[in-house]
Amino acid sequence: MSDSSQPFKEMWINLQTLVNRRLEEALDQSGDCPPILKEAMSYSLSAGGKRLRPILVLLSCEACGGDLETALPAACAIEMVHTYSLIHDDLPAMDDDELRRGLPTSHIKFGEANAILAGDALLTRAFELLANQIEIKSCAAACCVDLANAAGAVGMVGGQVADLESEHLENPSLEILEAIHKRKTGRLICSALTMGARIGGADPATLKNLERYGTCIGLAFQITDDLLDLTGNEEKMGKGVRKDADHGKLTYPSLIGVEESQRRSQKLIEEACLSIAPLGSHGQRLEELAHFILERDH
Ligand code: IPE
Ligand code: IPE
Ligand code: MG
Ligand code: MG
Ligand code: MG
Repeated sequence: MSDSSQPFKEMWINLQTLVNRRLEEALDQSGDCPPILKEAMSYSLSAGGKRLRPILVLLSCEACGGDLETALPAACAIEMVHTYSLIHDDLPAMDDDELRRGLPTSHIKFGEANAILAGDALLTRAFELLANQIEIKSCAAACCVDLANAAGAVGMVGGQVADLESEHLENPSLEILEAIHKRKTGRLICSALTMGARIGGADPATLKNLERYGTCIGLAFQITDDLLDLTGNEEKMGKGVRKDADHGKLTYPSLIGVEESQRRSQKLIEEACLSIAPLGSHGQRLEELAHFILERDH
């Protein structure tokens, strides 16, 4: 159990350390894997992401009364899926970026083919972890469905396709933009909450509340990402900034302006906190995390 009197930042670093250790172990078990592939998987995975999604899995499980240890496989799995999505997102055929997590992107370092394949291998390894390492098998199956939906054609991948299409849209609207952001980023973040809740043994009402919280912070997270592309610092962010406009991306600030985007993400964070009010003090960390999403600078 994490200590609820610990400062938020300290708690975050402790959970990051826990996740990083398990991620390393998860790659070590990869057996007869070509060295270049293992190197490319490990390069992106250990490059220093915030670990937001795995930490959400752990906090959601704990908020439902579950043990952190039981949620670690799902925490690692979602970080693998997220890291794969970043490797592919950076490819020349997509956002064509050269910096990620403070390092040259995977395709710059290993070439396009190896970058694509490292992404593929992280994605498949994630589902192996869920199926193998979640002890209650009905829960493992539910988590596989949950993550597959969030990552696939109706979730992240679908959102990425819509995001690329948005570069050439003649009549963009808030509805289209919200649908893109909910799928490309929101669904995966929401799945962190629902997997954590399932593993923590949540009752249906609590699962629903955490799903609502996840939907709200997921959208707010991508709005902040859009804002940070405009206002952020490349060194702090570890990725290229001020690129969305060059690509003609449909973003919140490009459509409704900076102030209205800030107002919307603020409202979403308030709604997220209201959704978990029934958890009382068990939801304290998630409430703190929701505020971090608004205030983050990386
Ligand atoms: C970046 O995600 C991509 C988006 C979905 C906005 P993060 O900001 O969580 O990136 P890392 O994991 O910290 O590198
Ligand atoms: C996140 O959107 C897309 C993913 C699903 C990976 P962005 O394309 O805005 O993410 P960054 O800004 O490159 O991290
Ligand atoms: Mg993108
Ligand atoms: Mg991108
Ligand atoms: Mg972005």
